[in-house]
Amino acid sequence: MIPTPSAAIGISTHWELQKRRIESRLDALVPAADVRPARIHQAMRYSLFAGGKRLRPILCMESAALTAVNGDSNADIEAISCTLELIHTYSLIHDDLPALDNDDLRRGKPTCHVQFDEATAILAGDALLTLAFQVIAMLPHSSAAIRSLLAAELSTAAGTVNGMIGGQVVDLEAMKSKATPELVQYIHCSKTAALITASVAMGAIAESAASAEVAALKQFGSDIGLAFQITDDVLDVQGTSASLGKTAGKDHAQNKATYPAVYGLDVSRAMGIKLLEQAKESLSIFGARASTLKQLADSLVIRDS
Ligand code: IPE
Ligand code: IPE
Ligand code: MG
Ligand code: MG
Ligand code: MG
Repeated sequence: MIPTPSAAIGISTHWELQKRRIESRLDALVPAADVRPARIHQAMRYSLFAGGKRLRPILCMESAALTAVNGDSNADIEAISCTLELIHTYSLIHDDLPALDNDDLRRGKPTCHVQFDEATAILAGDALLTLAFQVIAMLPHSSAAIRSLLAAELSTAAGTVNGMIGGQVVDLEAMKSKATPELVQYIHCSKTAALITASVAMGAIAESAASAEVAALKQFGSDIGLAFQITDDVLDVQGTSASLGKTAGKDHAQNKATYPAVYGLDVSRAMGIKLLEQAKESLSIFGARASTLKQLADSLVIRDS
């Protein structure tokens, strides 16, 4: 059963505990650093355990806790949640490559290709992506039907049609032109909101939730996902490399299509807050039980790292 925050432990302690559960399960899922060929396992572990907020797996666990019958979650929920972090970390390793954003700092450490080399970073990303689907295929406590639905949700969100890779492709193309509202919305919904939507959807799918519940959570995820990337853009302008653990000020330098580039900082921030409110309203069908997820949403949009 997933622990829910009680008045006694408080919300930030609850998330810290969830984060620890995710990290120890990730540790168990990824081959040890001395398994042959050691270099690839070292690189996978280097990027995976460099830090990170773990918000996608935490969203998945909270969504499962919200939709589980009698509060008893699917016994595979930690592993299912970890697949989102495997995909996300792969996307960060590839996002930082010289051919994409060409970054040398990630999660407060040198990027994977700087620490190892480009070939190892490409393969470490490939390996994390592959491992995610191996984990889903081999979930011990979930039916074949649920494993198949989870794989479909995750692969679609990470894919090319309105998914993460599609968004990354258009993000790169857009560096050569002036961004428009339509373009930046397409990029952000695809490269970031799709995987965040899958995070909450997969938690509900793992619990065989009713379709109205899955739909409400997906609406929540897509609004919160777009707001999350708007905040990422705002922090790129306003934050420091030290607080973000990644290079600040890069979007302007690389002519990236961002919300601040299209709308300015103030309007971007206001759009993020509006999406946050809209996201929380989508959870009204759950009543007071959604309060943990709503607080999590606040912390995704109103943050400084
Ligand atoms: C960074 O994601 C990339 C985006 C989609 C904005 P996070 O801000 O979740 O990065 P970590 O996992 O905490 O490092
Ligand atoms: C990254 O967007 C989205 C994905 C990795 C899919 P960004 O390029 O804005 O992310 P950061 O700012 O480097 O973390
Ligand atoms: Mg990028
Ligand atoms: Mg980047
Ligand atoms: Mg960014």
